[in-house]
Amino acid sequence: MGKQLKKIKKTSQLKRFAALSAVGVLLVTSNAGGMAYAQTSAAESLQAAVSADSRTETPQLINAQSIDSVIQAMTLEEKAKLVVGTGMPGMFGTPKARVAGAVGQTYGIPRLGIPSLLMADGPAGLRISPTRAGDEKTYYATAFPIATSLASTWDTEIVQKVGQAQGNEVKEYGIDIFLAPALNIHRNLLNGRNFEYFSEDPLVAGKMTAALVNGVESNGVGATIKHFAANNQETNRMTIDTVVSERALREIYLKGFETAVKEAQPWAVMSSYNKLNSLPASQNNELLTNVLRNDWGFNGFVMTDWFAGTDPVEQMKAGNDLIMPGMGQAEAIANAVTNGLLDESVLDRNIKRILQVVIETPTFKGYEYSSQPDLQAHAKVGRQAAAQGMVLLKNEDGTLPLRTKEKVGLFGNTQVETIKGGTGSGDVNAAYTVSIADGLEEAGFHLNQDLLNSYKTYIANLRSMDEYKIVDSPWGSDFGKLTPPIPEKTLAADEIQSTVKETDTGVIVIGRNSGESADRKNEKGDYLLTDQEQAMIAGVAEAYHKEGKKVAVVLNIGGPVEMASWRDKVDSILLAWQPGQEAGGAVADVLSGAVNPSGKLATTFPVAYSDVPSADNFPGDPAENPEKVVYEEGIYVGYRYHSTFNVKPAYEFGYGLSYTTFDYSNIRVNQKEFNKKIKVFATVENTGKTAGKEAVQVYVSAPDGKLEKPALELKAFGKTKELQPGKKENMIFELDAKSLASFDEDKSAWIVEKGTYTVKIGASSENIKGTASFQVNDDIVVEEVENVLSPKEPIDELSKESN
Ligand code: BGC
Repeated sequence: MGKQLKKIKKTSQLKRFAALSAVGVLLVTSNAGGMAYAQTSAAESLQAAVSADSRTETPQLINAQSIDSVIQAMTLEEKAKLVVGTGMPGMFGTPKARVAGAVGQTYGIPRLGIPSLLMADGPAGLRISPTRAGDEKTYYATAFPIATSLASTWDTEIVQKVGQAQGNEVKEYGIDIFLAPALNIHRNLLNGRNFEYFSEDPLVAGKMTAALVNGVESNGVGATIKHFAANNQETNRMTIDTVVSERALREIYLKGFETAVKEAQPWAVMSSYNKLNSLPASQNNELLTNVLRNDWGFNGFVMTDWFAGTDPVEQMKAGNDLIMPGMGQAEAIANAVTNGLLDESVLDRNIKRILQVVIETPTFKGYEYSSQPDLQAHAKVGRQAAAQGMVLLKNEDGTLPLRTKEKVGLFGNTQVETIKGGTGSGDVNAAYTVSIADGLEEAGFHLNQDLLNSYKTYIANLRSMDEYKIVDSPWGSDFGKLTPPIPEKTLAADEIQSTVKETDTGVIVIGRNSGESADRKNEKGDYLLTDQEQAMIAGVAEAYHKEGKKVAVVLNIGGPVEMASWRDKVDSILLAWQPGQEAGGAVADVLSGAVNPSGKLATTFPVAYSDVPSADNFPGDPAENPEKVVYEEGIYVGYRYHSTFNVKPAYEFGYGLSYTTFDYSNIRVNQKEFNKKIKVFATVENTGKTAGKEAVQVYVSAPDGKLEKPALELKAFGKTKELQPGKKENMIFELDAKSLASFDEDKSAWIVEKGTYTVKIGASSENIKGTASFQVNDDIVVEEVENVLSPKEPIDELSKESN
């Protein structure tokens, strides 16, 4: 530590530190025996020898009751180090962690029984190194479907199962805290990291997050919900100032976090890189203390995102308890205490929050991890979830499912180079990815071999060229691989012709990838299809149709692409998302009909990028190198915008087809006048010939009052069990006052305004199957919250009145 710290070494605490460190670290190893103070005889004699004023008994962290005395026994240096991680393992001179690929670790103080914890990424699965130097064994983790795909299941049970499996890998690989799930809102489809996030809707995002957290933490390891908050782009992510109204914050960008905190109490929250209304999120007391702790009652600890923020002392004060990955900020923190700029009690508070989590961790409890999670069982969960998350967007004349053993002409590079998930810290080092070609063959389909081989040769040739070499992520191999996109193989007319002759159906696979640190582009090859892709779709569809045969498209993508220009040319479209390592098997499950698709969109597919309400305000101002981004669309994000301003999307929020049909009946509410809670009923019947599940959505249209309201908002959802043909299920939903409330900035309160409320039961946000209404007789102030987080400048927000 530097000069300033030396000056304060006179304090008795620091004398103790100096004495102990003079003879090396005093190790007191027992922390499991239930003793208040554990000592070895060697430790005793050492302690006596080194320091006259050392306590003869060193407090040990053994349980919640011991935390205060342990904090009291810490030197200032130890305190400052405990609130800062120990560097980025494997980078910048920090040695690799005990579990290679873990991306962060906390400071351990063995003399007080405080172990060092390990953290590793998500969210699509645990990201650790698959191999270790000098070790024959492998350490692969399961790549599960991306979060956007999980949300499309509309099924919190399967999502919780995914969480259980993920958490089991976290535990069995020796990690304490999983840096997932992530739940930022899909504000704009070009956000390069949307694949890590669930939805444009905060209810879906919040419920999915709570399910995942509960699943992960059922293993006795921690989950971290991230990135808190309003981190909706990658362009200038570490400096961008997000300017957003209190109402949009509370109703859209904070809401999912609120739900997750209240329903799952995660062990940790990760604050985000961006500024929020001019203050970095990690230094934002209003966000981290007033809202997160005071309003919502969060009782875990907050860590920064990696290298986030500008001022460690402000981070401490704001209630950002832990700075990650830690780059020597401890000195500044200790100095600030010495100089009277930081109250030591703030440090103690933050440390207490960290230690309260430490005592729950496997490392603290001495768990002997196996490094052998049941990857086969988890692969099954992944495949099941992947198939459930697929969305059937179009299916003319029953093109899908394909018949068993059908002869298929499979087109598109992505059939071979199938994309399991996005890139960056959200990548997973899985043992394999089942390609769509392999998945279909394994399911018994006969793929045209000439075509398949010509794709394989074409891809192998291009990949041998420097330009297209698959390389390690720029952040190192632990962060997975970068696969530069190669141009779609051009198809000669006779190649298409001969394939059409020899096959029953054409299936075209289109792929896209994106990842951390860059946003997507509204360009060909990204949001728009390339000329080659357009030519492939047009050429293949025309040739098959001439022979009276059908063509399906499979989209292996992490976020919306433009579809209006080509969708009419094909008979069927299956949105497979990025389904994780079991991709090919899960696609085959749905194409074959082994699984009846029941996924629905949790994010809107607009007709054109210009229809996205934030298109003019993304990624900010100036567009090439923005300093700030103003959320002028306010609360009108996604379907809230499309439905209110009548902008027809290509495929709306909540949309998805099935191989069967469903009928809705008995749609009603149990009260005419709202009284604290209201029940909503609907009966869903499978009226088709195939067993299937249906995601049922409860929207509410609230009356305009002092506050204007979107045309409709999702307030509840549920999924039927698998219904056999002719079978019915009664669905019951409950809406309380908070779920109906809007945020009134003047009152800093959630209010339900009086008037007529219409409940709309939908198969999608546009396909409303029935309505029921009730009255709210008087305005209800549901909850008053802290008056914080107001923007520092006026925002010209979109409103029904101005439009
Ligand atoms: C990401 C986080 C991630 C962290 C550690 C950051 O760049 O934003 O989501 O958990 O790195 O890898």
